[in-house]
Amino acid sequence: MAYSVPKLTDYSANALRKAFNKAKSAFQDEIVEPDSEAAWKVFRDRWMARKNGLLTQINDLWLKAAPRETKREVGQLVNELKQFVEQEIAKGRAFEEAAAELGVALDRLDITLPGIRRPLGAEHPIIKTMNEIVSVFRNLGYSVEEGPEIETDYYNFEALNFPPNHPARDTQDTLFIAGQESKPLRERLLLRTHTSPVQIRSMEKMKPPLRVVCPGKVHRNDAPDATHSPIFHQIEGLAVDTNITFCDLKGTLDHAMKALFGSSVKTRFYPSFFPFTEPSADVQISCIFCGGKGYRDGGRCPNCKGGGWIELLGCGMVDPNVYGFVDYDPTKVSGFAFGMGVERIAILKYGVDDIQLFFQGDVRFLE
Ligand code: PHE
Repeated sequence: MAYSVPKLTDYSANALRKAFNKAKSAFQDEIVEPDSEAAWKVFRDRWMARKNGLLTQINDLWLKAAPRETKREVGQLVNELKQFVEQEIAKGRAFEEAAAELGVALDRLDITLPGIRRPLGAEHPIIKTMNEIVSVFRNLGYSVEEGPEIETDYYNFEALNFPPNHPARDTQDTLFIAGQESKPLRERLLLRTHTSPVQIRSMEKMKPPLRVVCPGKVHRNDAPDATHSPIFHQIEGLAVDTNITFCDLKGTLDHAMKALFGSSVKTRFYPSFFPFTEPSADVQISCIFCGGKGYRDGGRCPNCKGGGWIELLGCGMVDPNVYGFVDYDPTKVSGFAFGMGVERIAILKYGVDDIQLFFQGDVRFLE
C-alpha cells in the first residue's frame, strides 16, 4: 500500500527515529528512473509539491504539531529528510536537463539537406573497348579463353615457332623473371609479351573446330611515352577448322573493323611476318579521321600522316609447324589467327592522344 504520513502521538526519540526512517525508506521504494518521464514527474510531485506534497505534510503534521520540548529534534530530522529527498530529486533534474538539451540538438538536424552522394564508378575505357571487341566476335560464334600473365618461355615463344635464339624473339622486348638460369629454357618464366600463348593453351585443351578470342594484359620492356607502355592489352583470335582460308580471315576482320569503326571503313592487308603465321599480314583500316583521303582541314591528316591508312593489327594463317606442338593434324585442319592492341583501338575510338592516360587513374580523364 502506498505510503501516507501518519499523525504522531509518540514524540519519544525512538518513535521519531522510526517514523523518519519509515518515510525515508518509502521514498527509496517509490523512486523511479528519471528517463520514464511521466512516472518521474508523478513521483517528484508526490514528494516535493509545495501544496500537499509528502514533505509538506510531514512538516505540517509532525513539526508544527510537535510539543515545544521536541521541536528542535523534530526540526533537525525534518531537515535531514528534506535534504536527502532534494538531493535525489536534483539527480533526476540533471538528467531531465541533459535530455532536453539532446532533444534540441536532435531537432537541429536538418533533414532537408541533401545526403552524401557516393559517385558511381564506370567501366574503364580499356575494359569497355575490350568488351566491345569481344562481343563483336561472340556474335560470330567465338568463345572467350584466358591464360596466365606470367608465362613460360615454351608457351610465349617456343610453341609459337620462335626457336631458341631465333632473331624474331628480339621483336618482343621481353621482361624475364630473374634467377631462373638453372631451369631448362622452355620452363623459364616471363611476363607474356602477347596473348598468342593462349592460342596454344586453347588448342591443347580443345579439339578442332575451334573459334576463340583471348583478351588480356601483356607486358613489354618499353619505356613509357605517349605511344608506348610496359603494360598494355591485346585481344587474340583463333579459328581452326577444315578448309579455313585467307578469305575467311579477310572477311572476318573486315566485318569486325566495320562493326567497331563504322560501315564505311575499308580494310587493307599488308604483307608482314610472324613466326606462328604463314602467310602473315598487318591489317590497316582507312583513316577514320580523313575518310582515307590523307588530308583534311586543308592540310595533311595528322592521324594517318597523309597516308590514308592506319595500321591496326597483325594476323595470318596458322603456321603448320604450330599444329605440331598441339597434336593437330596439319594435313586435315587449317586456321587463322589475329592479335590486336586494345589501347590502340581505344585511342582511335575516343580520340586520346597519350596512352599513359589509361594507366594514371585520373578521374577527370576516366569520366
Ligand atoms: N602476337 C602478335 C603481336 O603481339 C600479333 C599476332 C597475333 C600476329 C596473331 C598474328 C597472329 O605482335
